[in-house]
Amino acid sequence: MGNVIAIGKSRAYPNIVTHQANERTDGTNPEQMLLGNSAAIQRTLRQIRDAAAVDVAVLISGESGTGKDLAARMLHQLSRRSRHPMVRINCAAIPGQLFESELFGHEPGAFTGARSARPGKFEMANHGTLFLDEIGDLDISLQSKLLRALQDFRIVRLGGVEEHEVNVRLICGTNRNLEEEAKRGTFRSDLFYRINVVHIEMPTLRNRSEDVPLLFQHFVRLYSNQYGRRPEPITSSAMRILEKYHWPGNMRELENLAKRYVVLGGEEHVLSALRDPRDDQAILPETIDVNTPLRIQTKRAVQSLERRIILDVLRAHKWNRRKAARSLDISYRALLYKIKEAGLPPVRTVKPRPPLQIVSATGESSVSEESADTPTQASP
Ligand SMILES: Nc1ncnc2c1ncn2[C@@H]1O[C@H](COP(=O)(O)OP(=O)(O)OP(=O)(O)O)[C@@H](O)[C@H]1O
Ligand SMILES: [Mg+2]
Repeated sequence: MGNVIAIGKSRAYPNIVTHQANERTDGTNPEQMLLGNSAAIQRTLRQIRDAAAVDVAVLISGESGTGKDLAARMLHQLSRRSRHPMVRINCAAIPGQLFESELFGHEPGAFTGARSARPGKFEMANHGTLFLDEIGDLDISLQSKLLRALQDFRIVRLGGVEEHEVNVRLICGTNRNLEEEAKRGTFRSDLFYRINVVHIEMPTLRNRSEDVPLLFQHFVRLYSNQYGRRPEPITSSAMRILEKYHWPGNMRELENLAKRYVVLGGEEHVLSALRDPRDDQAILPETIDVNTPLRIQTKRAVQSLERRIILDVLRAHKWNRRKAARSLDISYRALLYKIKEAGLPPVRTVKPRPPLQIVSATGESSVSEESADTPTQASP
């Protein structure tokens, strides 16, 4: 939402003080790391506690920023292995051979630059937990090597011959649908079954919006203490907007907004950073198809983005195509061609989208600027 939404004077949102809200999310109190009173997060907490009690592989999935890392740490700390290390490795961040050596370790001379022997993460996590994050991004050839290691938990370092027996609990994290990918053949299905003994799906923040006030206040308190600031309490009407927001970045986005609120002061800085759900839809291609060549999928995504830009610029100029062409720095003819190619109407005939209704504290509703554009006639 690029537009700043004017909000009338509003009462401050009542302070929510719970035993949870006073806790830090730094892992010192595992039972209270994942905050929230909603049924969704309470169900997840129960699943984490149940899974912690048994020594099986756990797959934690969920959108970006939903708390997968936090859930993995909590699982480890509630388990019998908590006195031993939890070792995390990000499968997406480390390429090929380097990943293998990170995971399995290496002997001197195993490859250029390998001067001394080094244990891998498997050995480092012995008796504890190994957290393989972003497992969906693991290269297919590495998937077979990992599977082999998981079959008997015997590790041979790169360039070595000796087998090291390791005793680890495996937790994997992903923001992808691995079941789907296993069906399509882009993720090994035998590896999928091995890592997915217990599956925990982290709820999105938009599916537990009743937790937003508690979480926002928790982060405001946390960063106020950290930065030595005392921001004004947020108003009830601003809080209502936050509760209704779709949170594409989930908890991480909420945490960043709270930080912004503490540092910059004033809720307009928070509200102006909220994104319009329609923009998120436009930028993401509807579906990623594993059987379609990259160039075709890229072209479709670019077309979809171009369509969105043209539409927004036309709207900004009340559908005046000459002004829109000037803004876009293309010729009038080129714009007409692109409008046609994008399947947009030559004149504004489509029904305007319902305006964004924002209710102020006084009960008056205001309309965001963008949605007030309703021309039905095209201007040349
Ligand atoms: N229920 C919660 N209560 C308190 N803080 C939370 C909660 N869930 C997530 N957070 C916080 O939100 C941030 C994002 O969480 P985390 O890194 O665990 O998400 P993630 O799912 O691993 O994200 P990504 O997919 O991007 O790796 C962290 O700072 C974490 O402390
Ligand atoms: Mg993560």
